[in-house]
Amino acid sequence: MKEDHQRGTNRPNHLSGGCESLAARIIAAQEEERARIARDLHDDICQQLSLLAMDLQQLRFGLSQSEARTAIDEALRKVGSITSDIHSVSHRLHPSMVRDLGVTAAIKAECGHFAARHGIPVNFKCDLLLGAIAEENGLALFRIVQEALHNVAKHAKASDVHVSLDRSADDICLRIEDSGIGFDPEQPQIGLGLASMRERTALAHGSLAISSAPSRGTVVEVIVPAGLASTSSPIG
Ligand SMILES: Nc1ncnc2c1ncn2[C@@H]1O[C@H](COP(=O)(O)OP(=O)(O)O)[C@@H](O)[C@H]1O
Ligand SMILES: [Mg+2]
Repeated sequence: MKEDHQRGTNRPNHLSGGCESLAARIIAAQEEERARIARDLHDDICQQLSLLAMDLQQLRFGLSQSEARTAIDEALRKVGSITSDIHSVSHRLHPSMVRDLGVTAAIKAECGHFAARHGIPVNFKCDLLLGAIAEENGLALFRIVQEALHNVAKHAKASDVHVSLDRSADDICLRIEDSGIGFDPEQPQIGLGLASMRERTALAHGSLAISSAPSRGTVVEVIVPAGLASTSSPIG
């Protein structure tokens, strides 16, 4: 297994050469993300609304009482499903979820969402004594989980995933482990996912290690300081 552990305190100066191509890649990644959200909204929500509109149109024509009741029940079921889809899209987009629920609940919800969407079971484990964490560090952990799970769905062909949150004296340790095909982390990568995980870890003054090898699965491990209690949010 190759392992690459990086402390994020001495960050390189990003204003020097190579900046343009990084900016171009970030803009392209943002466009891709917007396209994905638009697709999600279209597939999950617009299609369901069209079906709902068709059901409601039927109700305008002479249905028997029992047919009308069945159609209304079905329309209500669709309203419930659309509501939960909107809920889940907006929760995934908006970091207030981490502030409102705490990072543990937010990450747990993300794991549940991922398992339901991709049919890959996620085992989530959390240290009972996790305590409080600075809000920005909690958000960094949440985004890293999203990115790592996205990679599992896109590349890993994994049969399951284990996500855990543990506490040491001053640090929080996040681990995302999949049982998939793995890769060689020393090969140069053109994607932005791993780079953005490193960047978020560096901004949180933490360290990131990726252990992987072909056919051996992948482990992403992030250690960040829990941070100051004064800017903390509930974790549990
Ligand atoms: N969990 C994983 N399992 C297998 N391969 C992975 C995994 N995570 C990352 N990779 C490999 O690392 C590469 C870089 O990942 P990333 O930086 O997120 O970019 P992208 O996902 O856009 O390709 C991927 O193309 C893939 O080859
Ligand atoms: Mg990726």
